[in-house]
Amino acid sequence: MARDIWFETVAIAQERARKRLPKSAYSSLISASEKGVTVSDNVEAFSELGFAPHVVGACEKRDLSTTVMGQELSFPVMISPTGVQAVDPDGEVAVARAAAARGTAMGLSSFASKPMEEVIAANPKTFFQVYWLGGRDAIAERVERARNAGAVGLIATTDWSFSHGRDWGSPKIPEQMDLKTMIKMMPEALSRPRWFLQWAKTLRPPSLRVPNQGRRGEPGPPFFQAYGEWMGTPPPTWEDIAWLRELWGGPFMLKGVMRVDDAKKAVDAGVSAISVSNHGGNNLDGTPAAIRALPAVAEAVGGQIDVLLDGGIRRGSDVVKALALGARAVMIGRAYLWGLAAAGQPGVENVLDILRGGIDSALMGLGRASVHDLSPDDILIPSGFARALGVPSDGGR
Ligand SMILES: Cc1cc2nc3c(=O)[nH]c(=O)nc-3n(C[C@H](O)[C@H](O)[C@H](O)COP(=O)(O)O)c2cc1C
Repeated sequence: MARDIWFETVAIAQERARKRLPKSAYSSLISASEKGVTVSDNVEAFSELGFAPHVVGACEKRDLSTTVMGQELSFPVMISPTGVQAVDPDGEVAVARAAAARGTAMGLSSFASKPMEEVIAANPKTFFQVYWLGGRDAIAERVERARNAGAVGLIATTDWSFSHGRDWGSPKIPEQMDLKTMIKMMPEALSRPRWFLQWAKTLRPPSLRVPNQGRRGEPGPPFFQAYGEWMGTPPPTWEDIAWLRELWGGPFMLKGVMRVDDAKKAVDAGVSAISVSNHGGNNLDGTPAAIRALPAVAEAVGGQIDVLLDGGIRRGSDVVKALALGARAVMIGRAYLWGLAAAGQPGVENVLDILRGGIDSALMGLGRASVHDLSPDDILIPSGFARALGVPSDGGR
């Protein structure tokens, strides 16, 4: 990558994204709910965990490869589905290409800006994410489209409870990108000339439609129409999850599990994987960091299904900590969105390289030959760190 766009850490990618994007686009990537307690804890909890490195005996070569839901990954980091990738004209296609170039899998959001067929062509290891939107018939139709397009698995995301208000203000996302809106937003867009020129070259404004909520080849409904339909759909039951898993018949992840009792119910529903996650701090504020909930969940169901974690991953060492606490792999959200905003596909590759390098360094320091050798012995866990949610010791609350 050209030296002038290469960055050294995810924090620098974030700063580049902040400087490059119009304010409303940047704040839509920051997102999170209410006071931001959960989004902060997601990141800060990793700093509470320490390492116990060896001084001699490092392994000459480290093996970072793994498999998740049957897919081979060159290292244990996947792309988590996110819905606001119009920060770059190539959006999800750029992210999918970057993930493919680095040998890993793509999670594609229901609310993506690019059609699933294009994204799957860019990365055959693509998992399509579904929200419970429109009831069983509508969901079955969407899932069939994903099957025909070649998606290798489904990710069902059900952890969403509409959050009223953010203390730092919600991003101003327009209802539609018509002429009036474009004129209104022009001063903000012109305040970020490089971003503006990138879009100007495409001769079209950022799309606010969600093509994967419609039929193949159609532009799909506007974002807010789909969002309204989602909020108007009665939330799913465990029977609905089991139905969807059965209908799909292949690799299936339930994303957003924080409690041991829910993890067990997910296993009963037949899932092949879960991600311990709080939607990157976008669900109920006050939910603990995903990494705090991981140990109890991994202990309860890690022997039966793939347990992943997402939330707060900013460094390769964070990945290693999650693996030591029982995750098979992690998914990343904001880290790659910042890379995408900072430098497009090369920016996402840059972020993936930072994480890979950090994982390798941590393995070396810990004297481990493979990501599969990590265990809680490799890290220092302060007392009171973990939160075992949904187990009898906390009254099953
Ligand atoms: C801007 C943004 C949009 C998101 N959109 C979706 C989505 O459409 N579907 C989904 O399952 N999760 C979505 N998420 C949650 C991510 O998949 C993931 O759980 C979260 O970003 C992980 O936390 P991290 O950003 O700290 O890595 C979104 C997160 C962000 C920040």
